[in-house]
Amino acid sequence: MSQEYILEMHDIVKEFPGVKALKGVELKVRPGTVHTLMGENGAGKSTLMKCLIGIQKPTSGKIIYDGKEVLFNNTISAMNAGISMIHQELSPVPERTVCDNVWLGRYPQKGFMIDKQKMRKDCLALFDKLCLDLDPDEKMGNLTVAKMQMVEIAKAVSYDAKIVIMDEPTSALTETEVESLFSYN
Ligand SMILES: Nc1ncnc2c1ncn2[C@@H]1O[C@H](COP(=O)(O)OP(=O)(O)OP(=O)(O)O)[C@@H](O)[C@H]1O
Ligand SMILES: [Mg+2]
Repeated sequence: MSQEYILEMHDIVKEFPGVKALKGVELKVRPGTVHTLMGENGAGKSTLMKCLIGIQKPTSGKIIYDGKEVLFNNTISAMNAGISMIHQELSPVPERTVCDNVWLGRYPQKGFMIDKQKMRKDCLALFDKLCLDLDPDEKMGNLTVAKMQMVEIAKAVSYDAKIVIMDEPTSALTETEVESLFSYN
């Protein structure tokens, strides 16, 4: 049986002390589609996505992902299930290299060792695919905010996720950088 929706969010409510951020939100996503959430500052866009990936717990509502009802407890569970998110706020490790930042927490192993060669090769292939002019050996902390955000985007794409959520990931990028990033196919 073919599955019509990869994601269905039904009647999602999220209350913070003194604020009802989400009031019965409905969202349905078909595979292979791109959706944009639009709304003014504080409308609840980030909160809705945070409820999906387990950063926030919805006050009530139902989430059906890939045919099953889910409620992720954290982003790692969501990522393992195939949902990755690029955040509005950056979370780089400045003292490590660009390459380390891309594979952090999931270094490829070769026996008991980290397969540094594979890490670097895969990193270059990823940047190449996305037409990103980034040096894998550069220290993350030396990058401009824009370039750091590009690394974050590359990282999210690299998970082969079924759903990639981008919460204003280009807000720190220049027009030219945005253009080069979205020109790949
Ligand atoms: N952790 C939190 N604790 C309390 N209130 C919160 C929290 N996170 C969000 N809110 C409130 O929930 C509402 C929705 O915020 P949210 O960040 O989801 O909006 P947004 O649509 O993403 O806005 P922006 O365009 O500024 O990113 C706002 O009133 C915000 O102040
Ligand atoms: Mg937001």
